[in-house]
Amino acid sequence: MNILILGSGGREHTFAWKIAQSNKLTNLFVAPGNAGTAKIATNVNIAVTDFLAIKELVLTENIEMVVVGPEDPLVQGVHDFFLNDEKLKNIPVIGPQKSGAILEGSKEFAKEFMARHNVPTAAYQSFTSESLEAGYAFLEMLNAPYVLKADGLAAGKGVLILNDLNEAKAELKNMLVDAKFGNASAKVVIEEFLSGIELSVFVLTDGKNYLTLPTAKDYKRIGEGDTGLNTGGMGAVSPVPFADATFMKKVEDRIVKPTIEGFQKDEIPYKGFVFIGLIKVGEEPYVIEYNVRMGDPETEVVLPRVKNDMVTLLQATANGTLNTIDLEVDERTATTVVAVSGGYPEAYEKGKEITGLETVSDSIVFHAGTQLKDNKVLSSGGRVLAVTSYGEHFNDALKLSYESLEKISFDKMNFRKDIGFDL
Ligand code: AMP
Ligand code: GLY
Repeated sequence: MNILILGSGGREHTFAWKIAQSNKLTNLFVAPGNAGTAKIATNVNIAVTDFLAIKELVLTENIEMVVVGPEDPLVQGVHDFFLNDEKLKNIPVIGPQKSGAILEGSKEFAKEFMARHNVPTAAYQSFTSESLEAGYAFLEMLNAPYVLKADGLAAGKGVLILNDLNEAKAELKNMLVDAKFGNASAKVVIEEFLSGIELSVFVLTDGKNYLTLPTAKDYKRIGEGDTGLNTGGMGAVSPVPFADATFMKKVEDRIVKPTIEGFQKDEIPYKGFVFIGLIKVGEEPYVIEYNVRMGDPETEVVLPRVKNDMVTLLQATANGTLNTIDLEVDERTATTVVAVSGGYPEAYEKGKEITGLETVSDSIVFHAGTQLKDNKVLSSGGRVLAVTSYGEHFNDALKLSYESLEKISFDKMNFRKDIGFDL
C-alpha cells in the first residue's frame, strides 16, 4: 500500500518510522517532511494545506491512504475535501472531518461538547466584544489565577493564565477588542483554574470502537523546573507513573467512553487520533483540552511503545474494525528530549549544520526542524531533534537520551536537562 503522511515535525518522522516497519507498505511519501523522513520516505515539497497539490500527488503516486499529522489541514477540512471529490472519496484519510476537528478549532465548541456529554472539565463561560462587561463580571466572581483562552487556533499561544484581576480584565479586552490573537480571540473562554498535574491520553478511534494508547507527559516550558516561555514541547515521558490503573479506569469511564459516545450521539464521524489533555486534581481527572491529532513530542514516546503493525491499526481505523485489534504495548518506558535552536521560542537562527547523528546507537533520533542540503543535515526550525530512548525505568531511558545528545551538536543547540524531574 502507498501511504502519504502530511506534516514535517518530529511527530511525522515518528509516524514515518513506525509505518516504514510494516510489510504492508509499498511506497511512503511525506509532504513536506524533513531530513529524517527523507532517509526513509520520499519527501514532496507541498504545504499541508495545499489541497489541490495534495490531490495531484495522491493521484499521480496512487496513494491509498493519507495520514494527517497537524491540526491545520484537519480544521481547514482536508478530510471533507477528499470525501467531496469523485476521484479521492474512497481514499481513507486518518484524521477527523471538519465537524470533529472543530473540537480543537474552537475551545467553546469543545466546552459545550464536554458539558453535553458530562465529561469533567473546568467551569467556564464564553464572551465576545459585545459581552465584555459580562466578562469582567464573570472574572470578578472567580478566584485567581484567571484562565483566558482564545476560542480559535492560535498556534498554541492562545491561553493566558493571570494572577491579577485587573491584568486579567485588561487582557480580556486585548483579546476581544484589540484582536490580540487576531480572529482567534474574537471569542474568549474564561475558565475556572484547576490545580493539579497534567498528562495526556491518546485514543485511536474509528468513530465507534477505540484503542487507548499509552499515556504521556510533555514538558512545555523552555526552562528547567518548568519555567519561562511556552514551547511546542521540550521532552516527554511514557507511561506516566502517576496514571495508575485506578486513575486510568476513571479516565476510561468518565472521559474516553463519553467522548467516543458523544461523537456518535452528535453524529460526528471521527476516524483518527484524539489527544485528551488532562489534569489530575487530587485523584480525579478533568479535561483541559481536546486536540484532534497526536501530540508532538508525545508521539515520539507513544508510538515507539506500540508493538502492533501501524498500517494494520490505521486500516482498522479507516474500516471501522478497531474492535478486532488488541493493542500490544511495550512495557518499557520511553523518553524523548528535544534539542532546540538557541533563542527558541523567541528569535533564533536556522541553517546550522548538525553533526554526530550517525554516532548515536542507543537512541532513536527523530527529526523535527531539519532539512537536507548538499547531503548535510541543517537545522530549519525551533525544535530541531527529538532523541528517544527506552529503559526499564524512566531514569534509565533519560540517561540514554542525554548520552546520545552529548554526541550530537549544532551551533547554539539547547535542551532541557531535567525532563522527568517532577515524576
Ligand atoms: P490548552 O491550550 O487549553 O492546553 O492550555 C494550555 C495550558 O494552560 C495547559 O497545558 C495548562 O497548563 C494550562 N491550563 C489550561 N486550562 C487550565 C485550567 N482550567 N486550569 C489550570 N491550567 C490550565
Ligand atoms: N505537545 C503538545 C501538543 O502537541 O500540542
